[in-house]
Amino acid sequence: MLLALLLLPWAWGALAASPPVPTASVTLRLLQINVFHNASSTDTQGMALLGDLETHSMDCSTCEIRFLQPWAQQGLTPKQWQDLELVIHRDLFNFSRTVTEIAQHHGGGYPFVTQFSIGCELPPNGTSRGFYDVGVNGEDFISFDVDGGKWVTRQRDKLALYAQDLLNQDKGAARVIQFFLRITCVNLTKSFVQHGKESLERQERPVAVVFARAPPSAGTPAPVLLVCRVTGFYPRPVRVAWLQDGEEVGPGGRLNSSGILPNADLTYQLRSSLAVGPGAGHSYACRVQHSSLGGRSLLIPWEQSRPWGPGLAVGITLGVVAVAAVAVVLWRSRRR
Ligand SMILES: *[C@@H]1O[C@H](CO)[C@@H](O)[C@H](O)[C@H]1NC(C)=O
Ligand SMILES: *[C@@H]1O[C@H](CO)[C@@H](O)[C@H](O)[C@H]1NC(C)=O
Ligand SMILES: *[C@@H]1O[C@H](CO)[C@@H](O)[C@H](O)[C@H]1NC(C)=O
Ligand SMILES: *[C@@H]1O[C@H](CO)[C@@H](O)[C@H](O)[C@H]1NC(C)=O
Ligand SMILES: *[C@@H]1O[C@H](CO)[C@@H](O)[C@H](O)[C@H]1NC(C)=O
Repeated sequence: MLLALLLLPWAWGALAASPPVPTASVTLRLLQINVFHNASSTDTQGMALLGDLETHSMDCSTCEIRFLQPWAQQGLTPKQWQDLELVIHRDLFNFSRTVTEIAQHHGGGYPFVTQFSIGCELPPNGTSRGFYDVGVNGEDFISFDVDGGKWVTRQRDKLALYAQDLLNQDKGAARVIQFFLRITCVNLTKSFVQHGKESLERQERPVAVVFARAPPSAGTPAPVLLVCRVTGFYPRPVRVAWLQDGEEVGPGGRLNSSGILPNADLTYQLRSSLAVGPGAGHSYACRVQHSSLGGRSLLIPWEQSRPWGPGLAVGITLGVVAVAAVAVVLWRSRRR
């Protein structure tokens, strides 16, 4: 289990020098997935994420840790990383054996999957919140209650109650987990934030286009959907609004959004649409605010002159509106 990580005293000592708390919320998350094919075959994969950056991965045929960021190896010596691999490998073997035993006694149906999510979130106010959640076959199974220092089932079935009782017998392990989530994880996160500052503060500018989706059947006076497609931005926080005659359109049924979605290159995209009445004589524009724009915003007017044609990318108007609070915070932290 990833418990191995928690048990290594040198991992704590190595991180004693602690930089200041970051100005935006940041989460360190260790994920582990075990696939139990049958009583004799198990696959394990692990990864670590700092915010949305994948920093480490692990394939447990050998449990070799791979470093996915140039700074991901900092903090421990090569020998210490090697020892960590050994401990994880041994511990995983034990975990698999224990689960296999439980599965045999409780008639667990193969194949099944266990998922671990362990880590801590550091909001900008200097507090921290640790979490240790276990899922089985994609559903919440059991979680560690950090303040109470004990495991709590997330399901009412016999197996979850059994696992809860079994895990809660080990008071020593509970204290170690508490310490890890409250202290070690927090120090680890601060250390990574310091080493990975450049990657975390990477800024990619959004590219935006406005186009219209034709009404369902030509000739009907149905509302037309104006679509603003914004893509290629990093970090994730963004604000996209529609302006009608220069005024921001308030929340309501005319607006729709895809939500922020990931691209394959660790940038993000979003589509926002606005339903407009046909030929109403208003002017429309899509406004994008993002930390990469340095306090300015991107303004893409809808060109009525080419009615309902696709792909109307237009100019950029800079210096229009103050950027959203989150962008300001990010910008300041970059300058610091
Ligand atoms: C965590 O950081 C604090 C503050 O710098 C330090 O006092 C403490 O010794 C560190 N603890 C561990 C376990 O590294
Ligand atoms: C167990 O599962 C593995 C992987 O799916 C398969 O290769 C192997 O033959 C299975 N063994 C038994 C005893 O069913
Ligand atoms: C293996 O796991 C069991 C149950 O969790 C525990 O009691 C035992 O100490 C572990 N053994 C090793 C070598 O870690
Ligand atoms: C700190 O921020 C977190 C997340 O925003 C919040 O849940 C928590 O209550 C805050 N704590 C304090 C002491 O302000
Ligand atoms: C919003 O858009 C989604 C797809 O992007 C669509 O499934 C949904 O029906 C839309 N909602 C409204 C109210 O138009």
